[in-house]
Amino acid sequence: MFIGLDIGTSSVKAILLDENQKLIAQASSGLTVQRPHASWSEQDPESWWTACEAAMDELAAAKPAEMAAVKGIGLSGHMHGATLLGADDKPLRPCILWNDGRSAAQCTDLEEREPKFLSLGGNRVMPGFTAPKLQWVRENEPDIFAKTAKVLLPKDYVRLKLTGEHAGDMSDSAGTLWLDVAKRDWSEPLLAATGLTRDHMPRLVEGSEASGTVRPELCSRWGFAGAPVVAGGGGDNAASACGVGAIAPGTGFVSLGTSGVLFVSNDRFSPNVDNAVHAFCHAVPDTWHQMGVILSATDSLNWLAGTLGQTPSALTGALGSVSGPSDVLFLPYLGGERTPHNDVGIRAGFYGISHGTEASSLTHAVLDGVAFALKDCMDALAVAGTRVERVTAVGGGSRSTVWLEIIASLLNVVVDVPADGDFGASLGAARLGQAAATGSLDGVFAQPPMRLSIEPNPTLTRAYGDAHARWRTLYPALKQAGF
Ligand code: XUL
Repeated sequence: MFIGLDIGTSSVKAILLDENQKLIAQASSGLTVQRPHASWSEQDPESWWTACEAAMDELAAAKPAEMAAVKGIGLSGHMHGATLLGADDKPLRPCILWNDGRSAAQCTDLEEREPKFLSLGGNRVMPGFTAPKLQWVRENEPDIFAKTAKVLLPKDYVRLKLTGEHAGDMSDSAGTLWLDVAKRDWSEPLLAATGLTRDHMPRLVEGSEASGTVRPELCSRWGFAGAPVVAGGGGDNAASACGVGAIAPGTGFVSLGTSGVLFVSNDRFSPNVDNAVHAFCHAVPDTWHQMGVILSATDSLNWLAGTLGQTPSALTGALGSVSGPSDVLFLPYLGGERTPHNDVGIRAGFYGISHGTEASSLTHAVLDGVAFALKDCMDALAVAGTRVERVTAVGGGSRSTVWLEIIASLLNVVVDVPADGDFGASLGAARLGQAAATGSLDGVFAQPPMRLSIEPNPTLTRAYGDAHARWRTLYPALKQAGF
């Protein structure tokens, strides 16, 4: 038996798999995001652990015999969050999350001072990443910076609570911007640029390697007969790729989670800092990946649903199917954008609302707007030399077939939808747990069975291509007007 534990932005999800990767049980527990100032986004690290305890307690209560047989646990989590710990391993402040935009000035300064961020780190220095967040703390909260003994990513804080180990995997660690991504090792010059050393960092392991074992008191609490191995695991995107079998070069997925992601595996480190393409390590050895990331995918639909006093599924249900792009255009930049604009200050908007516009037109516009932004990611990856022809859909938004139909036609790709629903990151984490516990990667990262393959519809592809060309004129026009 193996467990996958995914620390998502909106919930922790735990799944229990048998040796054949059949789903035996699942549990989840919700999380909230705090936004104390404009463009800030934070979470209390203790809330992750409380949610993990709740989800694991639920699995233990539901499946005691199966829990006794657990051999491996894999972790995945939202990437880039800066979790600052004192010498006593206690958090010194709330974690600054991946969609926090406070460190724009620090990004400009770090890119100017240390060109190796682009060459060794392989990425633009963007406010979402961890290094500029630490520079912000160094400048704005010097007492906290001085007390910082370790900087961990969210899932690695959960690992510390589970095992007592300070360890991180390559995929998530690449997202700090302190990693020499080609060498898969911490980079002293990149750490030094933010006043840190290797001592502030956790030990590095591959995602499919063991990082430690579960503490004895937790083994008793959850009924594990022997202490399960905890795998390195992965950032949620690399873990999702492991869950859908996207390991071979050229395979990938589209994720409709809080963020939206177009992810493709590579057999080598392939940086392309133009257009804010992300280039990181994969969660399995000798493999890397590129991705385009948009900051508000289901976040945009959730925002609309909250504003209209509805649920996201009620909105997509009321929309039904679509026969072409919406007349109303929506820019999904609620908290700025990463790929391709690297613009933390831009904000979302609707254009084209008339007397006849109904709530369903706004829903349609939001689905289209997120799809257009993902098409921008695809175009950015194409400039980086990467072509995508087929992707698997993951994330909560992938429950909406109409959204996937829009994406398939606009991106002109086949979208495969897994039969077992939305288990991308937690399934990938459980698989990494299996690899670490058994010491073998053979057959572990297969493509799961698919429920549906959505082909592009040529009529929609043409109509959506034209609409995307129109939509993409809005951003430069807004910039020119000083927004
Ligand atoms: C990736 C990113 C998000 C988070 C949250 O760069 O910031 O996808 O991992 O899911």
